[in-house]
Amino acid sequence: MAGFKAYSQSSVGRAIVKLIAGQLLLQPGSAEWARDRLLQSSWTAWLPEGAFHFMTKDAPYMRADWPLSRRLKLLPTTPAPPRFKRVRAAPVIRLRSHQTGSDSFFQTLHARRTHREFSRAALSLQDVSTLLQTTWGVQGYLDAGAYGMLPYKTSPSGGARHPGEVYLMALRVDGLERGIYHYQAHNHRLARLPAAATPRLASAYCAHQSYFGKAAALFIMTAVFARTMWKYGRARAYRLVLLEAGHLCQTFCLTATRLGLAPFSTAALKDTLIENDLGLDGVSESVLYVAGVGPLPDRQ
Ligand SMILES: Cc1cc2nc3c(=O)[nH]c(=O)nc-3n(C[C@H](O)[C@H](O)[C@H](O)COP(=O)(O)O)c2cc1C
Repeated sequence: MAGFKAYSQSSVGRAIVKLIAGQLLLQPGSAEWARDRLLQSSWTAWLPEGAFHFMTKDAPYMRADWPLSRRLKLLPTTPAPPRFKRVRAAPVIRLRSHQTGSDSFFQTLHARRTHREFSRAALSLQDVSTLLQTTWGVQGYLDAGAYGMLPYKTSPSGGARHPGEVYLMALRVDGLERGIYHYQAHNHRLARLPAAATPRLASAYCAHQSYFGKAAALFIMTAVFARTMWKYGRARAYRLVLLEAGHLCQTFCLTATRLGLAPFSTAALKDTLIENDLGLDGVSESVLYVAGVGPLPDRQ
């Protein structure tokens, strides 16, 4: 202590209390300590870079019902960057425009929009089943030798590891009780969870975007990181997990569009709230993205 005259027993005590409050010192046996151990055991391969995932969870969001003036205050004072890039002095070749024509594939691509209004009608269970199977269902298996028999789906997946899982929050689905279900991709079944499903929860999950509480169903996308991590031991593979959620979501939106439904997607989520309700530890399996759907509003 001779060299640390500025410190006293009580100042060191106060510093320790601060470190505990900041979760930099953990009490053995506490919930935070258990979570830290889980993180160490399941994320070691992707740490420290993978800390990005945890540092960006449960972010504060602006509310959709804030007046525009309040939302604009959060923007930088500098003008928005140019929307498009033009390479200066590059020779330019004019391209012929593609005609969508009567090809339903191109028509569907062009018809996809994000919807925030829905009719109060229910979805059919068949449409929900089609959305699940087309987006997340296993189409078959490929023999990847030493890596085993790996599933393939309509979306690509790095190393065919398919880390994605999906949970259905059924709010208005004919023939399906309101509730939360885990989709079993390998056999196309739904397993009912004890969690509740209400419009208020749906909106809360989507960071209180009230319009999404009016959807007929949410599709809550998570990832089981170990599937990808097992093969790809470097943190860069975390990018695969995020990219793949994007693939799945686009497939979902296009399928919904083709079915004449009104899809949306949101990454503004109350992560921990969702994970707790779904019984996930938020470390080995964590929520990434939510898609949803309802019938098109009546006036359309
Ligand atoms: C990753 C991602 C996150 C999004 N999050 C939200 C969101 O939180 N709330 C919302 O209303 N729309 C959200 N959107 C939808 C965009 O606002 C929408 O795609 C954009 O305005 C373009 O409209 P379009 O989808 O109809 O082409 C999100 C889209 C993406 C790709």
